[in-house]
Amino acid sequence: MTAAVQAKPPFSDKYDLALARAYLEKHHRGLRRRLTTWRETHLAGRALKLAGNPESVLDMPCGAGRFWPVLASNPTRRLLAGDVSPAMLQIAAGAAEPAVLARFETLALMDAFALDLPDGAVEHVLCMRLLHHMATAADRLRILRELHRVARRGVTVSLWVDGNLQARRRMRQNARTTRADGYRRVVKRAVIEAELAQAGFVIRRRLDVLPGLSMLRLYVLDKV
Ligand SMILES: C[S@@+](CC[C@H](N)C(=O)[O-])C[C@H]1O[C@@H](n2cnc3c(N)ncnc32)[C@H](O)[C@@H]1O
Repeated sequence: MTAAVQAKPPFSDKYDLALARAYLEKHHRGLRRRLTTWRETHLAGRALKLAGNPESVLDMPCGAGRFWPVLASNPTRRLLAGDVSPAMLQIAAGAAEPAVLARFETLALMDAFALDLPDGAVEHVLCMRLLHHMATAADRLRILRELHRVARRGVTVSLWVDGNLQARRRMRQNARTTRADGYRRVVKRAVIEAELAQAGFVIRRRLDVLPGLSMLRLYVLDKV
């Protein structure tokens, strides 16, 4: 069976227009969220520098387009973005500065499990806050392999990892609840790092949003 005909997990159909709008607004609400967004955006910019200032980047999934100003800060970079949710794409396009939006040569419905792009379509892929929604190692690997296929040189992913205060709290909460599929998971660092290697990546740099405190980590990866 090919990746294209395998089922998507329930999370992938979650975002309608109301949820997409709420997602855009949530990251600007409250001091803690604003601080995290500011730091995450800063680290996304740093990741791109570490990746050698790539000439083309795919933002996958783009969500509400939080990283578009950072991606567009390089005036000659080719930009592509995709998301499986039409509502997210609509919200992102509506919220973007016209000059930033005009920079995207592709803004399309795309499924991270089966990207409608040729091999090596872009130099780098930015994949923020998708993997920690995946329930199984098999789903994470399917996505990582697809990102590996479309990236010529490297990929940046972010997800929740263990080894910090927030993850310890979250794991205690998880042990007390039985939530339906689609809820977000902390992945052990050793586990995700083995999966990254299995998908054909070497780690260039680990970037923690708040070292020791936050569970959100970026991995800047090179293709082997
Ligand atoms: C938590 S949001 C993150 C969006 C953006 N990367 C950010 O950090 O702001 C997760 C996004 O993943 C998208 N998504 C879920 N499953 C997907 C899939 N199989 N392929 C592409 N996008 C997917 C959702 O529609 C949503 O926009």
